[in-house]
Amino acid sequence: MADLNPTVWTRKDLIGIEDLSREEIELVLDTAPQFVAVSKRESGIKKVPLLQGRLVVNWFHEPSTRTRTSFELAAKRLSADTLGITVAASSSVKGETLHDTLANIEAMHSDVIVIRHSCAGAPHILAANHDSHIINAGDGRHEHPTQALLDTFTMREHIRAQRNDPTAGLDGVKVAIIGDIEHSRVARSDIWALNKLGARVTLCGPSTLLPMHIERMGVRVTTNLKDAISDADVIYALRIQLERQQKGLFPSIREYIRLFRIDNDSLRNAPAHALIMHPGPINRDLELASEVADGPRSVILEQVSNGVAVRMAVMHLLVNFGGKRPQGVA
Ligand code: NCD
Repeated sequence: MADLNPTVWTRKDLIGIEDLSREEIELVLDTAPQFVAVSKRESGIKKVPLLQGRLVVNWFHEPSTRTRTSFELAAKRLSADTLGITVAASSSVKGETLHDTLANIEAMHSDVIVIRHSCAGAPHILAANHDSHIINAGDGRHEHPTQALLDTFTMREHIRAQRNDPTAGLDGVKVAIIGDIEHSRVARSDIWALNKLGARVTLCGPSTLLPMHIERMGVRVTTNLKDAISDADVIYALRIQLERQQKGLFPSIREYIRLFRIDNDSLRNAPAHALIMHPGPINRDLELASEVADGPRSVILEQVSNGVAVRMAVMHLLVNFGGKRPQGVA
């Protein structure tokens, strides 16, 4: 294991990037490479015993493929036991509260609870009242901290390779986040992480999908795609979250495509070295053209691979170095 300084890590839970210091974010990013190596082992044995005998419970109240499978694989590669609760087939449909369900899971001695919920703040409230380590896997429009950690890890790896500097960080790196910022917890967590790491963030989309006063987060905001991407080192396309939108937030899909889609045509305005990223799932040919999603600048599948390693790092830090719930917290 690498010679790191896990004394920086004292947290019991991972709720949001907003709470984390730059040092804590960097500790996660610096802990991840050893887990990338585990997944790539020539022996094919992709496991380390760091969470052996522990129970990790995946509790997803919203649809998910990659985040849920990524957490499950991360737990398995750390040798934990894993359990998935299928909400549609669980007692919550019979009216049981989140607290009661979690108290019952904890009565079976869980160690880590990975929760995705449509209510912003649900993971925070559970973390304050329960002893398990709680990881927020996406709460409403609020935060998706492990996505931001895997995104900044992926950016940092590429910047290091492009600059031939194995210690380069994201200071001064220009990141353009394009599309449905309004509904995106990924955008919010990425903005927190990128700001803390010294990157410069530009947001771009139709004005109806740009939250009011978002520039207060310390970002540049534009509705002009060319302006947003002309000097970008990273172009991060977001999914248009059709399921979260009331109707009529942009005039038509055809209009969105004409003005904001990342495709070979719009990329003529971007530097040749700019990376293309997307959190998935992609609305193919809506926010991102297939020619770009599957093209040489795209690192989208690397984001997915890195996601497992970054989540291994998070679970390792929480369980093996993290703190306990302060007593007397309501
Ligand atoms: C994101 C999410 O669910 O917040 N996806 C993901 O976790 N990879 C983004 C999205 O759904 O568009």
